[in-house]
Amino acid sequence: MNSKIVAIVGGGLAGLSAAVEAHDQAYNHYIDATILLLEKENNIGGNSMKATSGINGVEPKYNDTMGAFYKDTIQSGGGQADLVTKLVQDSPSALNWLEQAGVDLSVVSQCGGHSYPRTHRCGPGPNGAPIPIGFKLVDTLKKRAQNLGIDIRTNARVTSITYNQLPPLFTLTINNNDSERISVDALILTSGGFGGQIHATDLDNKTTLLKEYAPQWVDRATTNGPWANGDGVRLGLSLGATTVDMDQVQIHPTGFVDPNNPTAMSKFLAPEALRAYGGILLYQGRRFVNELTTRDLLTQAILQVTSGQSSPSIWLLLSDQAGHDFGESSLAFYEKKGLIKKVNNNEDDLAQAMQLDDSSILKQTLEQYDSQQNGKLDSFGKSRFPTKLVSSPYYWLAQITPCVHYTMGGLKINTDAQILDKENNLPIPGLFGAGEVTGGVHGSNRLAGNSLLECVVYGRTAGINAIKSLN
Ligand SMILES: Cc1cc2nc3c(=O)[nH]c(=O)nc-3n(C[C@H](O)[C@H](O)[C@H](O)COP(=O)(O)OP(=O)(O)OC[C@H]3O[C@@H](n4cnc5c(N)ncnc54)[C@H](O)[C@@H]3O)c2cc1C
Ligand SMILES: *[C@@H]1O[C@H](CO)[C@@H](O)[C@H](O)[C@H]1NC(C)=O
Ligand SMILES: *[C@@H]1O[C@H](CO)[C@@H](O)[C@H](O)[C@H]1NC(C)=O
Ligand SMILES: *[C@@H]1O[C@H](CO)[C@@H](O)[C@H](O)[C@H]1NC(C)=O
Repeated sequence: MNSKIVAIVGGGLAGLSAAVEAHDQAYNHYIDATILLLEKENNIGGNSMKATSGINGVEPKYNDTMGAFYKDTIQSGGGQADLVTKLVQDSPSALNWLEQAGVDLSVVSQCGGHSYPRTHRCGPGPNGAPIPIGFKLVDTLKKRAQNLGIDIRTNARVTSITYNQLPPLFTLTINNNDSERISVDALILTSGGFGGQIHATDLDNKTTLLKEYAPQWVDRATTNGPWANGDGVRLGLSLGATTVDMDQVQIHPTGFVDPNNPTAMSKFLAPEALRAYGGILLYQGRRFVNELTTRDLLTQAILQVTSGQSSPSIWLLLSDQAGHDFGESSLAFYEKKGLIKKVNNNEDDLAQAMQLDDSSILKQTLEQYDSQQNGKLDSFGKSRFPTKLVSSPYYWLAQITPCVHYTMGGLKINTDAQILDKENNLPIPGLFGAGEVTGGVHGSNRLAGNSLLECVVYGRTAGINAIKSLN
C-alpha cells in the first residue's frame, strides 16, 4: 500500500487548521494519507501565538448579521467579494469547530471598524489570569493534531520546491540540504506573512519583500516575529503562482515603546482595546486625533503630528477606570515588562513622566475631554468617551509608536483555497494556500479579528480540498 502524502508548510493557525481538517477528511473517506506539517522554527505557532484581540464570527446574540459583517469588511479594505462572502458565511461553523475542540470563545467585544460586537476571545482562567486567544488556539489544535498522529516536524524549513509533471507532484527540499528531499502529492502553503523582516535585506542577505513592495516602511519597528519572512510567497512564485495586493501593509498605530530599549525593532502590541475602553493619545500634552478611528487613519495622524519633530513621543493615557475595564491582570503583565506604568494624578509627576515643560496644556486637555458628551462629535470626530479623566486618582501611561503589523497581500487564491497561476489565473493542480501568506480577503486594510478567522476558514477548506485532490 502506498500512502499519499499531503505536506503543509508552516505551523501557525492556518497550518494547524489545514492539518486537522485534512486528517479528518481522509479518515472519514477511508483515504490512506499521511499528513506532514513542516515548521522551520524550534516551536510551532508563528504570529498566531501573539494574537490577543480575538477571532471574528457573526454573533446573533448581539443582533449581528452576515450582511453587516460583510459590509464592514468590504468597507474597511475593499477585499475580493467572493473571498469575503465565504469568510463571513463560514464564520459561525469555524467558531463552532474551535469550541468543539475545546476553545472558550465566550468573551465578545466590538473592535474598531465593526458595527457590532463580534470579536471573540477566551474568558479569564481559574485564577483570574488572562488566557491569550492566539496561544489557546495554537495549543488546542497542536494537541489535537498530535493525538491524531499528524507528523509535525520542527526545525524543518522548506527552502525550495520543484513541480513534477507526474505524481507525486511536488518535491520539497528541507533546510537547503539536498539529502533532505520529500516528494508529496499535495501541498498547502500556510507560512504566514512578510512583516517580520523589516530591513532592506533579510537573514539570507536577500532583498526583503517589504523593501521590494512597500519600501516606505523599511526600518520601522514590527510587532511580528522574525519568522514572518515571506518564504511562502517566494516558494509560490517559484511554482508560477500570482500575487495580489503585495504593496498593502498594515501599520498598527500603537506598538509599545520600551523605555529600557526604545530603539528595539521588535515591539509588543498595545492592543486596540486599550483605546476602546477609554485610552487617549497625547502629543506634547495635546490630543490630536479620534483615538477610535481606523488603524490606517490613526497611523497617518501620528506620523503627521510627529513629522520633523525632535521629540516624537506619543503617549497613551488611561484613567484607573479604563484600566479596570480593560483588565488589570493584563495591564500588570505589561507593567512587569516595563511597557506601561502608573503615574499619580499630580501635575509635576505627569509633566515629568511625559517630558512636558508646561503642564497647564495637559490640564486643559483633560478638562476639555471631560466636558465632551457621549454621542456628540468632538473636534476630532470622536463620539464615545468611556471614562472621565480629571478625577482619576492615577493614570496608566505608556509611550507608543506605529509598527509594521500585517501584510494584506500574498498569493492569490480562489474560494476553494487553490493557489492561482500567473499565466492564466487558473488553479495550480495540487497547490493550496491559507492564512497570511495569501492575499485578497482584506484588500487595503484588515479589520481586527479577521485574520485568525481567515486562517481557520481557509485553512480548513485547504485541508479538505487537498485530500480531495489526491484522487
Ligand atoms: C502581535 C500580533 C497580534 C495579533 N492579533 C490578532 C488578533 O487578535 N486577531 C486576528 O485576527 N489577528 C491578529 N493578528 C494577526 C494574526 O495573528 C496573523 O495574521 C495570523 O495568525 C497568521 O497566521 P498564519 O497561520 O497565516 O501564519 P503564522 O501564525 O505566522 O504561522 C506561519 C508559520 O510558518 C512558518 N514558516 C514560514 N516559512 C516557512 C518555511 N519556509 N518552512 C517551514 N515553515 C515556515 C513560520 O515559522 C510560522 O511558524 C495579530 C498579529 C500580531 C503580530
Ligand atoms: C437586538 O434587537 C432587539 C430588537 O430590535 C432589541 O430589543 C435588543 O435590545 C437588541 N439586542 C442587543 C444586544 O442590542
Ligand atoms: C543533510 O541531511 C542528512 C540526512 O538527513 C544529514 O545526515 C546531514 O547532516 C545534513 N547536512 C547538513 C549540512 O545539515
Ligand atoms: C550576509 O552578509 C554578511 C555580511 O556581508 C555575512 O557576514 C553573512 O555571512 C551573510 N549571510 C549569509 C546567509 O549569506
